[in-house]
Amino acid sequence: MAVKSGNASPAERASDLRGRIEDANYRYHVLDDPAISDAEYDLLLRELKMLEEQHPELATPDSPTQRVGGAPSSDFTPYRHDVPMLSLANAFDEDDLRAFGARVAKLAGKTPAYVCELKIDGLAISLRYENGVLVSAGTRGDGSVGEDVTPNVRAIRAIPRRLSDAAPARLDVRGEAYLSRSEFAALNGAREARALTPFANPRNAAAGGLRQKDPRLTAERRLSFFGYATGAFDDADALPRTQFELLAYFQILGVPVNPHATRCASLDDVLAFCREWEEARETLDYEIDGIVIKVDDLELQARLGYAGKDPRWAIAFKFRAQEARTKLLKIDVNVSRSGKLNPFAVLDPVAIGGVTVRMATLHNEADIVRKDIRESDTVIVHRAGDVIPYVVGPVLELRPKKTRVYKIPAKCPVCGSPVDHPEDDVFSYCTNAACPAQVRERIRHYASRGAMDIEGVGDVLAGALVDARLCRDVADLYDLTVERLASLPRMAEKSARNVVSAIEGSKSRGLARVLVALGIRYVGGQNASLLAGEFGTVEAVMEASEERLAAVAGIGPQIAESVAFFFRQKPNRAIVARLDATGVALTAPRTPKVVAGPLAGKTFVLTGTLPDWTREEAAGYIVAAGGKVVSGVSKKTDYVVAGDEAGSKLIKAQSLGIAILDEAGLRALLNA
Ligand code: IVH
Repeated sequence: MAVKSGNASPAERASDLRGRIEDANYRYHVLDDPAISDAEYDLLLRELKMLEEQHPELATPDSPTQRVGGAPSSDFTPYRHDVPMLSLANAFDEDDLRAFGARVAKLAGKTPAYVCELKIDGLAISLRYENGVLVSAGTRGDGSVGEDVTPNVRAIRAIPRRLSDAAPARLDVRGEAYLSRSEFAALNGAREARALTPFANPRNAAAGGLRQKDPRLTAERRLSFFGYATGAFDDADALPRTQFELLAYFQILGVPVNPHATRCASLDDVLAFCREWEEARETLDYEIDGIVIKVDDLELQARLGYAGKDPRWAIAFKFRAQEARTKLLKIDVNVSRSGKLNPFAVLDPVAIGGVTVRMATLHNEADIVRKDIRESDTVIVHRAGDVIPYVVGPVLELRPKKTRVYKIPAKCPVCGSPVDHPEDDVFSYCTNAACPAQVRERIRHYASRGAMDIEGVGDVLAGALVDARLCRDVADLYDLTVERLASLPRMAEKSARNVVSAIEGSKSRGLARVLVALGIRYVGGQNASLLAGEFGTVEAVMEASEERLAAVAGIGPQIAESVAFFFRQKPNRAIVARLDATGVALTAPRTPKVVAGPLAGKTFVLTGTLPDWTREEAAGYIVAAGGKVVSGVSKKTDYVVAGDEAGSKLIKAQSLGIAILDEAGLRALLNA
């Protein structure tokens, strides 16, 4: 890595770096509120180290390069470590790791076996057991003196307060206290619900948890623990001879150990282990930031000893950073095929984990506002594995003077039509069925089985039709000719003929299917049948007020609003008029007001996938037998027909004590 001294002299740069590192240490260790990522911190420290190596006269005894971790905070009694808790030198790439291996091999006179352990991103603590009983516990602090956190550690259920009978008279168990991702998510969820600022990451939440004034608050935070080393101990003979056996011994004592530790016979195996876990880290329920590689033979460890504060027998292979800071140049909006407005960040290009990131997702407007992300902010961007990079949040200290709270555009950035922002939804939607961003998906949906059921028109052909400008909206399907279709790549004349005839055949599906096919939010088969049966013609549906729509049994206010909104848009009305002109049937038999039949007066809700019938078919039979089908479960519902993967509706029905049927049960009722 080049030392970035810019215009500053090496001395100025070193002092600048020290200031920034000290500040970062303070925020990280004392305030539990880091302003820079661990990776950025490592870079700063690395640059300072190199600078001090190149200019030894600049190295000062109090330089952060000479110290482990931060100063202990004054709120706790000091905890003196009988055996210092040291940290590890870092390896950032294969070369660093091979250099470590070569040093060890040279000193040991052979390539020794190594143990690779996941480097848990938590905080190191030391647990003192006397005659198997937990008597005290401390954080690492500066390595010699940490903070006494005994009452808090006693409150952590994952840490045994008593070891098994195999325990020696005195033993320090060292390891990592951490918060799992799932507990972290739950904790932050609960904090947000109470309008508290969420924690930046599990590590900080864990550190905060351990340093609570009240052990009950520590207990609430549900920390976990993995043991991986010893400090002081009596009874050396009772202890294992290798690191790998030490982990097994811990397990016998009742100390949790990480299950992924692996013994490696060569440095190639070590490298393979590092690469494998760099890929797989996201699959774990806890965060790791690297791999710790240790000489397995404990006696050899002792012989290799220390170089300054770092052991010669171990090294931390650090994964490439997943986060970086950069400037958010602009918040742009992309309209998805379903009309959803997806805001995304246009970034000042930044390298993260070896890839240049220029754009990142911002999820949705609500998320942007909640995190208060603004254009021109410096933001933290996260990129992990194959996941789309996303903006974690702004660095508020670096916010420029004039910035504005973000608002999603009121008009679709693609077609200029009004944007609908349903109250219960975090997304906004373009309301124009002919919006170019949506046409492909609209056509695919229009032709799909539950809608107009046009065989041969799927996603691929829909895309080809849009690309060739043969379709600008769904009504254009009816203007297609065999010649025009056959002009498309990979479309034989015979297939073109079949498609044209399938399109022609779709004209007689009737109003309910057309209402489904138009892709109105919340209007699926059931609601479409209710509307078609109630109004009989598309004109009547289009002209109905929101109140009139909501008065239809089974049509809730949300659906009514969506239907009214859809038909208020001129382009949507124009599509309907053109469907009408080409001869698409836009009427339906009206549902007789009072139907006699076995299910007269009964209200049904359909949910999940039925074995033989589609929900629309089942609804048709129910209506034909005089019953009513509605979409939401309430106390007024008589039956819920539940198929596979029925979700919240089934749960609600169970909680309300409503009769639940499967398809066979429904058939029996229909036949009664
Ligand atoms: S061994 C002298 N093993 O990483 C060796 N450390 O940068 C002491 N860590 O302070 C550390 N997982 O907080 C070791 N399996 C593991 C670890 C681990 C996480 C942390 C620990 C340590 C830091 C070293």
